[in-house]
Amino acid sequence: MAARELTFEIFRFNPQDPESTPHLQTFKLTEEPYMTLFRALNRIREEQDTSLQFDFSCRSAVCGSCGMMVNGRPTLACKTLTSDLEDKVRLHPLPAFKLIGDLSVDTGTWFRSMAERVEAWVHERAPFDPGALEDRMDDDLAQAIYESDRCIECGCCVASCGVANVKPAFVAPAGMNRIARFMMDPRDARNDDEWFEVVSSDDGVFGCIGLMACADVCPKELPLLEVYAYLRRRALGSAFLARKKG
Ligand code: SF4
Ligand code: FES
Repeated sequence: MAARELTFEIFRFNPQDPESTPHLQTFKLTEEPYMTLFRALNRIREEQDTSLQFDFSCRSAVCGSCGMMVNGRPTLACKTLTSDLEDKVRLHPLPAFKLIGDLSVDTGTWFRSMAERVEAWVHERAPFDPGALEDRMDDDLAQAIYESDRCIECGCCVASCGVANVKPAFVAPAGMNRIARFMMDPRDARNDDEWFEVVSSDDGVFGCIGLMACADVCPKELPLLEVYAYLRRRALGSAFLARKKG
């Protein structure tokens, strides 16, 4: 069977260049067996336009660099086979992040700012004692924390989130997942009242309007629906206890 000719319509814009205007540019490429979008974009850059900007590092769905909109859906390009796509493929940068150029966006600044905001580190109950025995942890709990830690910070869930796209202050699914990870951790000294301050506003878990595209697009299949349910339960429990005490 003859190889397919693929047509790529790729968003082009360089915000650093005052002459540049946003537009779609068309490239044609003959498909290879087992071709990924990573391979296709590299071939376009090597053979047709060396100025094309996009990000890749690991090429194996681990580093989270290559998130982009593939036919309108946030996706890891290195994990996407062209054989799973139609002949015509439209590529845009992820929305909700600052555009660097073409398909490249700055997810790092967003994730750093989110991590600082939710203080994404263990707030220790006691100073570290190198001579002490390791704390024991229940297997199921350790597994649940590990599950949250599998996030590769690709930004696909943030790009898919209707609220995050119109409200930059929203902690967004990746941020909620990070909060849940530390909330579950018995080594973290923050109590429910302190967490309530972080998650209970419209910028936190109650700002979610339930579209739940995040769970559909997460390339690591993190249980984001369960994360939201867990945070709501904890926030409501904390509010209920506060009312009872009051
Ligand atoms: Fe990517 Fe999933 Fe992490 Fe969101 S939760 S940043 S989609 S790995
Ligand atoms: Fe690392 Fe795609 S290149 S996740």
